[in-house]
Amino acid sequence: MLLKIKKRSDTGSSEITPEHIYHDRRRFMQQSGRFALAGLGLMLAGCSQEGEAKAISKKTQDDVTPSQPDPEWLKKQVLEFNPNVYTTTEALTPHKVVTTYNNFYEFGTGKDDPVRNAHSLKTDPWSVVVEGEVAKPGRYHLEDILKPHAMEERIYRLRCVEAWSMVIPWIGIPLANILKQFEPTSKARFVEFTTLHDPEQMPGQKASFGSLDWPYVEGLRIDEAMNPLTLMATGLYGDILPNQNGAPFRLVVPWKYGFKSIKSIVKIRLTEQQPKTTWETSAPQEYGFYANVNPAVDHPRWSQKHERRLPGTLLSPNRIETRLFNGYGEEVADLYKGMDLTRFY
Ligand code: MTE
Repeated sequence: MLLKIKKRSDTGSSEITPEHIYHDRRRFMQQSGRFALAGLGLMLAGCSQEGEAKAISKKTQDDVTPSQPDPEWLKKQVLEFNPNVYTTTEALTPHKVVTTYNNFYEFGTGKDDPVRNAHSLKTDPWSVVVEGEVAKPGRYHLEDILKPHAMEERIYRLRCVEAWSMVIPWIGIPLANILKQFEPTSKARFVEFTTLHDPEQMPGQKASFGSLDWPYVEGLRIDEAMNPLTLMATGLYGDILPNQNGAPFRLVVPWKYGFKSIKSIVKIRLTEQQPKTTWETSAPQEYGFYANVNPAVDHPRWSQKHERRLPGTLLSPNRIETRLFNGYGEEVADLYKGMDLTRFY
């Protein structure tokens, strides 16, 4: 696959490459940390674009200690990932940026709120309710959902609707493999996902003014859910997911705007009807159900023709052209044949 190479003007030529993950994970993590500090500092100045939530305004804590140890069973399974199942020639976004510049409104609307606040989320034990049009509904331990599957590393671009992007080495399991376990019926036309609703653990869910309707809900058409690119991630950068990135179990749909990639999922419902999703409900003129990355369909308040590949600086914002379906057209364009993408945005 030929993909656009990131401009390397503001990162050293020694920037980490995916190979390091396979050969020396520990060294890889240390390197990413070193570069990220510089990257984060530079990035702060450059993220005031319209449509973006509050920029990082204060120094982010370097090490926020999770309030519970990593679940050993999950760590063991994640660390046995098959590397390089899907990759790109583009430079990875440094680990530090991936884990400190986040959108997770349950923990605040600032980009650094999730890393400061999400460490207290209790992610083990974790159960997921599977319901609706499946032969095997029930409440399942996450462990039982994941156990039958091998973990894969997939390096994907993440394009936020706010017009910034990253390249992230996820670890996870194709959603199709997970759904097949529960035997969807012939009536299953959509899949709805729901994030944990627990205002005690997720302080952003207490906010009433200007916030979203909780819990956060997202959805896919069944053929989108079954597409081989669609991933349920449990890790990134060779380790289990940090809480701020949606631990312990999140969706990753690389050809759609990042808001479709719902975090910390506790319910999966297969339905005949198209689900009502959080952002679509909150501002239907701005956010559609499909949310396919599309440079030809602007957000009503800003252009979607370009994106800032993080990290960037004010002087060198690392601006690149946005591609239809985030560059994954070969894999997914057929899903939308004959559809008016300006109407079904
Ligand atoms: N999931 C939940 N539950 N809550 C959120 O606020 N934000 C979304 C998505 N998933 C969000 C969410 C948005 S807008 C983006 S861009 C991605 O998560 C960001 O993922 P990241 O923080 O791992 O980069």
